[in-house]
Amino acid sequence: MDKFFIHGGAHLRGTVSISGSKNSSLPILAATLLTRERCVIHRVPDLSDIRYMLEILRYLGADVSFSAGTVTVEARKVGWEAPYDLVRRMRASVCVLGPILARCGRSKVSLPGGCVIGDRPIDLHLRGLEALGTRITLSKGYVVAETSALTGTRLSLRGPHGSTVLGTDNVMMAACLARGTTIIEDAALEPEVADLARFLRAMGARIHGEGTGCLEIEGVEELHGAEHTVISDRIEAGTFAVAAAIVRGEILLENAPSEHMGSIIEALRQAGASVEEEKNGLRVQAGDPLRPFRLRTGTYPGFPTDMQAQFCALAVTVPGRSEIADEVFPNRFMHISELKRMGAHIDLRGNVAVIDGIPRLSGAPVMASDLRASAALVLAGLQAENTTTVSRVYHIDRGYERIDAKLRAVGANIERRP
Ligand code: EPU
Repeated sequence: MDKFFIHGGAHLRGTVSISGSKNSSLPILAATLLTRERCVIHRVPDLSDIRYMLEILRYLGADVSFSAGTVTVEARKVGWEAPYDLVRRMRASVCVLGPILARCGRSKVSLPGGCVIGDRPIDLHLRGLEALGTRITLSKGYVVAETSALTGTRLSLRGPHGSTVLGTDNVMMAACLARGTTIIEDAALEPEVADLARFLRAMGARIHGEGTGCLEIEGVEELHGAEHTVISDRIEAGTFAVAAAIVRGEILLENAPSEHMGSIIEALRQAGASVEEEKNGLRVQAGDPLRPFRLRTGTYPGFPTDMQAQFCALAVTVPGRSEIADEVFPNRFMHISELKRMGAHIDLRGNVAVIDGIPRLSGAPVMASDLRASAALVLAGLQAENTTTVSRVYHIDRGYERIDAKLRAVGANIERRP
């Protein structure tokens, strides 16, 4: 298992090129199962989560190749069972449920299981598929879904914490091949869902209303092959923006999707960082003193839960009291205890982190627990005195393409060692 050794205090300056979005690519790859024809997807980031998804597609019978950011999938035949050993590695694999069901009339997918960011039920996915005429049974850790004919209907995907991203994806993909029209109310507004809708449309699906909260999907007999380029990763861009702010440096985020980053840009400005749009991307620049800030995560266009941990790391370095609440995943605070080991003053009150900033963190050995928490520890290490070692780096490799190389290129002193 690799570790990162970060010698903090280096000034960061330069350009980072933002990769294609992980959370767009995963459901788009699952959607290729909806057709027997060839699909070609460009700008797919080379991440371990993407490799897991490609393994699942191969297991299900698809021919898959991945080279220089382009994935080609041809699923002439599709198996209907995704076993525990494959699904347990990545929660997003649950988004093969809808496509397999639509293509085969039945689907057996292992329940994704626990996750350190909190309880992650899939009741809304199942409720939506049931509304389309699917019989769902849970047996021995598996979801078994069967239908004689998916049938369009009106349904809502509203849950206790708002809508569901992958649940909207699953139901939208199944509805593409249903008889008649499906209306999904309280659909997720995230740009990654809209990107999937664009890909499905390129495959021949009839979808309207993505990004409005109400999706209308007219079912078609079959879908065909298509080519698509994935949008830029707003969370990767946000993470590098925080890297610039935390060391009071300056980074140009090339290809950053500024149109999807409104709440992140607003949060950076609230903290006193400068964010300017340029022809090639976003320039983020920060100097002392930054200001304390208050944030509350929410579904899009609210502030993303996937940026909560990174802004906790930033708040730790800003004099005064900041408050950050997570309303989407109220238990997603695994980074707090590790940040405290680096000297941070954080009091967790329910789902609110109350943070009293200090001038400089102190380097320490810390352990990555999940993707975004790990990113927060790397960011903290960039600012800390002395050396921070981050172990279990495989969590970061799930969602950031060569984060160490990209940080080194803008001046960070970070090494990866086995
Ligand atoms: N929820 C339910 N029932 C469901 C599904 C979700 O109650 O059936 C609740 C969840 O417990 C949570 C909220 O609804 O409180 C939102 O969860 P959502 O279903 O939207 O999450 P997801 O689709 O499983 C995606 C991203 C996550 C991101 C969330 C929220 C992918 C592959 N994953 O997960 O990304 O945090 O949306 O925006 O798109 C990450 O990239 O680090 C990551 C965890």
